[in-house]
Amino acid sequence: MASFKNYKVWLDGQIVDSDKAVIPIFTQTALRGANVYEGLRAYWDEKRQDMFIWMLDQHVDRLFRDMKVMRMQSPFSKDDLKQGIRDWITANEFREDVHFRLFVYLGDGGPWGVRAFRPDEITCGAFIFGSPRPHVDALTKGVNVAVSSWRRINDDSVPPRVKAGANYQNSRLAIIEARTNGYDDAIILNRDGKVSEFTGACMMIVKDGVLMAPPVSEGTLDSITRKCLLELYEMEYGKPPLVTRIDRTELYMAQEMLMCGTAEEVTPVVSVDRIPVGDGEVGEVTRKLQTLYLDAVRGRDQRFVQRRAPCYAR
Ligand SMILES: Cc1ncc(COP(=O)(O)O)c(C=O)c1O
Repeated sequence: MASFKNYKVWLDGQIVDSDKAVIPIFTQTALRGANVYEGLRAYWDEKRQDMFIWMLDQHVDRLFRDMKVMRMQSPFSKDDLKQGIRDWITANEFREDVHFRLFVYLGDGGPWGVRAFRPDEITCGAFIFGSPRPHVDALTKGVNVAVSSWRRINDDSVPPRVKAGANYQNSRLAIIEARTNGYDDAIILNRDGKVSEFTGACMMIVKDGVLMAPPVSEGTLDSITRKCLLELYEMEYGKPPLVTRIDRTELYMAQEMLMCGTAEEVTPVVSVDRIPVGDGEVGEVTRKLQTLYLDAVRGRDQRFVQRRAPCYAR
C-alpha cells in the first residue's frame, strides 16, 4: 500500500504537505483518541475521466450523527467537508482508486481536559488523508480469520455504532491477537457471546442458502456497505436476507462467509479458526454479491449511479 506520506493532506481547510499535517499534542484527539471519522473510497472512472466518491452524502450524514452523540460541533458544514474531499482529491491529482479518511477531532481541552466538551471550552478541527488501497489478493482468494478472545465494546459504554477513533482500541487488541496467531482478521463476539463484526468490517454468512447478518444492535457499526449488500441480495435473489443474531457455532457450520465494508468492499472468508468455510473455496453468493457491489461502485449498474458523486466534473 502506498504511504500516506506521499500524498497531500486537507487539514482544517488547507491543503498541506504530509509533513506539515500536524496537530498539537495537547489536543484531546492526541491525548485520548477523541474524534469521529469516516472511511470512504473514490473510484477512478476511465470512461468518464473522473473520480467518483461512493456514498458521499451517506458518509457525511453518519459523521454528523456521530458528532451529535459526542456533542461535537464541527466548524465545517457538511458542504464544506464534501468540498474539502473534492479539494483533497484534486490537489493530489488522483486518477486511480483511493481510500481515504475524514476526521473531525476534538482540540485542546485546556485545564478541563476530558471534561471539556462545550464549543467555548474546546474547538473541533477536521482533516482528510488517504492513498490508493488495492487488495486484489483478498478479494479473489479470500481471507482466513479467527474468533477473538476479546469481547466487543457495548452500546452502554463505548457505543460501536459511533465511529469514534477510540473504539478502535478494541479492534486493535483483536487484530494484534489474530495477526500474532497467523490469521488475517478476527471476528469479535459481543458480551452475550453472539457475533458482532470484524475489527474493521461487518460479517455475513450464508446458511441454508440464505444470507444472514447480525443486527446493528449486536455491537456493529451501522455500516453503509452492509446496508447496500442486504439491498443487493434482495434485488438479486428476490427474497429478503435474514437479519438475526448469529451464534459462534453457526460460523463453523456456514456455507459461505464474507467481510464487508468500504475498505474491504466484499471480501470472501475461507476459514474460521482453521475450519474451512463450506468447502474452503469462495462461495457462489459471495462472488455474486462481490460482482454486484463492484458494478455498483464503479458505475456499471445504472440503479446506483446516483450514489456516486463526481469530483472533477463539478
Ligand atoms: C468496525 C467497523 N465495522 C464495519 C465497517 C464497515 O462500515 P462501512 O460499510 O460504512 O464502511 C467499518 C468500516 O469502517 C468498521 O470500521
